[in-house]
Amino acid sequence: MAYSEKVMDHFANPRNVGEMKDANGMGEVGNPKCGDIMRMYIKVENNIIKDVSFMTFGCGAAIATSSMATEMIKGKSLDDALKLTNKAVMEALDGLPPVKVHCSVLAEQAIKAAISDYYRRQGIDPTPFVGEVPECEACEL
Ligand code: FES
Repeated sequence: MAYSEKVMDHFANPRNVGEMKDANGMGEVGNPKCGDIMRMYIKVENNIIKDVSFMTFGCGAAIATSSMATEMIKGKSLDDALKLTNKAVMEALDGLPPVKVHCSVLAEQAIKAAISDYYRRQGIDPTPFVGEVPECEACEL
């Protein structure tokens, strides 16, 4: 299966790439299947994600899914951002080849890790909001 035009666009022109110096939440997760790493920065004000950026040592599918995921959570409340699943991101990209599904999990996990970090910095236990950062089901395959 070839990559969709949207995947190629977000891979070639990723949105929201780079370190964020004034972030108030940062999450870093690794993909056990391939060893790739994703870091997500968020700037939260009044419970809204005002800004988001990412950096990755990951493949093209990881770059494209993270790029799309950042676009989908920017301006959203923390609650809405926590509802974003890797499946929703893949649908927004018109799909990924099955062997690349595990790459899309990195973005979902990194967002949850960044929001957990934000809550911790506020002195709030993130577990009731974020729960456990989910394992990658696709990585078990
Ligand atoms: Fe590692 Fe895609 S192969 S994130």
